[in-house]
Amino acid sequence: MTEGEWFTASAPGKFVILGEHAVVYGKPAVVLAVDRRISCSIRRSYRNSLNGEHIDFNRQPHFRYLTRDTHYAMDYVTNSEIPPGSGLGSSAALSAALAMAIRAERDEPSDEMTLVDEAYGAELFAQGNGSPMDASACVHGGGIAVNVPGTDDRHLWTVSRGNRTWDVSDVNVPDMTFVIGNTGVRAPTGPQVEKVRRFVGRNHFAADVVDEIEAVTLEGHASLERDDTVALGEMMTLDHKLLSILGVSCRELNKLVNASLPYSYGAKLTGSGGGGCMVALTDRPEKVCEAISARGGTPYIVQTGADGVRMEPGPSGDPLMEVPLDYPRV
Ligand code: MEV
Repeated sequence: MTEGEWFTASAPGKFVILGEHAVVYGKPAVVLAVDRRISCSIRRSYRNSLNGEHIDFNRQPHFRYLTRDTHYAMDYVTNSEIPPGSGLGSSAALSAALAMAIRAERDEPSDEMTLVDEAYGAELFAQGNGSPMDASACVHGGGIAVNVPGTDDRHLWTVSRGNRTWDVSDVNVPDMTFVIGNTGVRAPTGPQVEKVRRFVGRNHFAADVVDEIEAVTLEGHASLERDDTVALGEMMTLDHKLLSILGVSCRELNKLVNASLPYSYGAKLTGSGGGGCMVALTDRPEKVCEAISARGGTPYIVQTGADGVRMEPGPSGDPLMEVPLDYPRV
């Protein structure tokens, strides 16, 4: 057979301002999309391949889940600006982009809710636990709040699993400057979520910490709404301390957070922790970048307001010819 037409979609990464881990238990969170994207091109083919090599679906659970109703072979090409295992939502962004490209290839419409369902389903299939927060942020873009009371007028969708429900609403993207620092330590989400689950399950004290994260997140969300950078920064630093008590920080993250604090309103780990990234809220981004670099981290100044998942113009050439030899893997 001859190969089919290429379909390409891309989705942004994200960072969590407040509320990671606690959101898994239905608590509130605030998340922004970032200006780093992952794109996924697909076409019908005579074989299944990922970036030019045979794809082993057992080792690519996101692909396996999202192609569960695809009864023909496909070429898949991914291109990522989001470091994997860094807390910036690379797997949710991949899932959102792949879900949209697949629906386009089948000529099926893509609304945001359907794509969140697909992307969250892939995340659960791959890592066995977690909330729909990352999938929602990567699909919607901009900013989202989860389970924050009083946001009904900006309600986007509700997701339920078992006895947990997540009400997702749109957030006005703040005019504030954030710097992300990557420790370079790769830490997948599933094991961190599981570690917290075991801690919360056997220790009332850990459950109290999750309640405190809820209070800090609601306070931080209110600060964001009234543009109060100082108060929001304080809540971020407090959240980092609470996450550290839950056991999801590490030496490298603490080093970058402490190095940023003298030039920041607040700083914290972002995402599932155990490595990955931290984020600082600052009006001295260059100083924060220097401090992060001096401690061995990789900084970047975030451009907020990124678009959510979207179709991209078809590639002009053959994306398989453009796959770099050392392509980024998700
Ligand atoms: C990971 O970005 C955020 C966690 O809260 C997990 C989840 O919500 O699925 C740690």
